[in-house]
Amino acid sequence: MQDTKKFKRTLVTTALPYTNGPVHIGHLAGVYVPADIYTRYLRSKGEDVIMIGGSDEHGVPITIKAQKEGVTPQEIVDRYHNLIKRSMEELGISFDIYSRTTSEIHRQTASDFFRTLYDKGEFIERTTTQLYDEKADQWLADRYVTGTCPHCGFDGAFGDQCEHCGSSLNATDLINPHSTITGNAPVLRETRHWYMPLDKWEPALREWILEGHKEWRANVYGQCKSWLDEHLQPRAVTRDLNWGIPVPVEGADGKVLYVWFDAPIGYISNTKELLPDTWQDYWKREDTRIINFIGKDNIVFHCLIFPAMLMAHGGYTLPENVPANEFLNLEGDKISTSRNWAVWLNEYLENFPGKQDVLRYVLTANAPETKDNDFTWQDFQARNNNELVAILGNFVNRALVLLGKYFNFAVPERGDLENVDIDTLDEMACYRERIGDLIETFHMREALKEVMNLARLGNKYLADTEPWKVAKTSPERVATILNIALQITANLAIAIEPFMPFSAARLNEMLNIEKQPWCRLGEDNILESGHNVTSTPSLLFVKITDEEIAAQLQLLERSKQENVVKSWRPAPQLPDISIDDFIKADLRVGTVTACERVKKSDKLLQLSIDDGLGGRTILSGIARYYAPEDLVGKQVCFIANLPPRRMRGIDSEGMILSAEDADGRLVVISPTGTVKPGVNVK
Ligand code: 2FM
Ligand code: ZN
Repeated sequence: MQDTKKFKRTLVTTALPYTNGPVHIGHLAGVYVPADIYTRYLRSKGEDVIMIGGSDEHGVPITIKAQKEGVTPQEIVDRYHNLIKRSMEELGISFDIYSRTTSEIHRQTASDFFRTLYDKGEFIERTTTQLYDEKADQWLADRYVTGTCPHCGFDGAFGDQCEHCGSSLNATDLINPHSTITGNAPVLRETRHWYMPLDKWEPALREWILEGHKEWRANVYGQCKSWLDEHLQPRAVTRDLNWGIPVPVEGADGKVLYVWFDAPIGYISNTKELLPDTWQDYWKREDTRIINFIGKDNIVFHCLIFPAMLMAHGGYTLPENVPANEFLNLEGDKISTSRNWAVWLNEYLENFPGKQDVLRYVLTANAPETKDNDFTWQDFQARNNNELVAILGNFVNRALVLLGKYFNFAVPERGDLENVDIDTLDEMACYRERIGDLIETFHMREALKEVMNLARLGNKYLADTEPWKVAKTSPERVATILNIALQITANLAIAIEPFMPFSAARLNEMLNIEKQPWCRLGEDNILESGHNVTSTPSLLFVKITDEEIAAQLQLLERSKQENVVKSWRPAPQLPDISIDDFIKADLRVGTVTACERVKKSDKLLQLSIDDGLGGRTILSGIARYYAPEDLVGKQVCFIANLPPRRMRGIDSEGMILSAEDADGRLVVISPTGTVKPGVNVK
């Protein structure tokens, strides 16, 4: 168990989501639900804890979204900040503050932080060349450049990544790069930036993490170790961009702080905004425990870069733990904001009113703590129907209904205890520590399992003691049984609160008691004899129907289809070429005389083409879209003068022309009328 006595207070931070879209279940499972469980648990224990959240409103993700919609970045961040804040509140994520990195206090704090490092000589300055769009008169961040991937030849690769083959790229690596703003070919220009010399901090980071925090999750520790073993390089902390916090140095016009420099400082500024007088207690004292809840893609920033910034600044406490989660996928596919492949929180809340706890439960029961996990609507339904309804809800309902039936909703007095009663109460007494230890060591999934085991204990107790049978012979015995069953329900109200606060509140209401603190979990006298509970118990959870699930699956299917259409945009026009360049390409029409699949390849078809010149063989990557027999007799266009290329032991003498349809399938280009095989395309 973690030593909690060492710390007088806890600061919980949650990754600040970019405000370029609503939050989805991946964000919730990765960061906000576990952070909320942890915080609610500490509050229930009466500890001094604050939970900090807010919007990350700077950086290229915001300007790209604004550019796509033709609105200002400010409009984008206002829209999504408010939407996200509201929906998180509705889900019961109990932030003490949810602010934004466009606030004045944040601008000032981040600016001062940078200036302190600058004045201390903690930065190095470097001049490099970067791409510039002369027509737009604008520097081009990596995402603003597209071109041909040098690894796979894909035409729509972005300057930071090729989404076709997954390679990480630098914008300057792209073949034939062009600006997404104007379509122009960018030029290289020199620019000066400030860098954090992370190499300088490497020994301190090694010591702090690799020696001092061996207890961190294996995924977090492992990722840090692998970065450190590869050695850290200086990282630029400023950018040429017109959206962000201006670099507070003379001669830095047009430059802003890199979003990953200012965002984590947002944790500090939001704490300042919440507690103007005492914020330093949470940031600058050794007896404060700082916990950063994040997703795995944020590990390097929270475990290496931000701590290096804090060390360079001096006076700040480093995080005690960074329990990063892996990713949650959706129905087998990576969740993606840009592809609209997600369950959006605001839509869930609309579609499943009053069912916040079901989502919180499912995301915790299936939390991606040690590996990526998959959210499926079928699993959502099964967990609700077979666990929440059948185990937890069922026990609470049975206990209350039996109490109504035999004692008119007044808790009866216990008589002599039998072995089954003593064993059950002994077992119940173990859950406070069992669940608490798991939460404090960030095993939320296991902790929730134990909560459900407490409900299972209740069901087993009723099944073992059968009060409905005993009632006929011994009213005294029924009194004992129902007193104990009711104490279990009161215990459950405490145990479920960090995980399912809405159901905990309803259960307390039904039991007609105030919310009880964590220290009472395990007690067998929370409800006194004679205490009246509600006489109108209702179900804590109700079944989710097949129709409701089918409707959600249909929504996803629609989004998949719309996405293909929506995401398509014509590629920007390439730079002009001369007619001489064009006629160098020998484009012709030929007739397919035979066609077969290439062995051991699911992509390639081998086409025999009558080209009027004696025939040739061309391989084409269209096997997923055409059966060989569909093409025989058809006329196709091809490039005749490419040098032969050997694939799978066969020489391909040219390339068939094709285009992508709205579903992303390739269709071959054919003349609309029949022509002689071998004629040129002009
Ligand atoms: O990955 C993201 O969504 C970032 N906006 C997280 C920032 S966390 C912190 F540094 F603010
Ligand atoms: Zn590629």
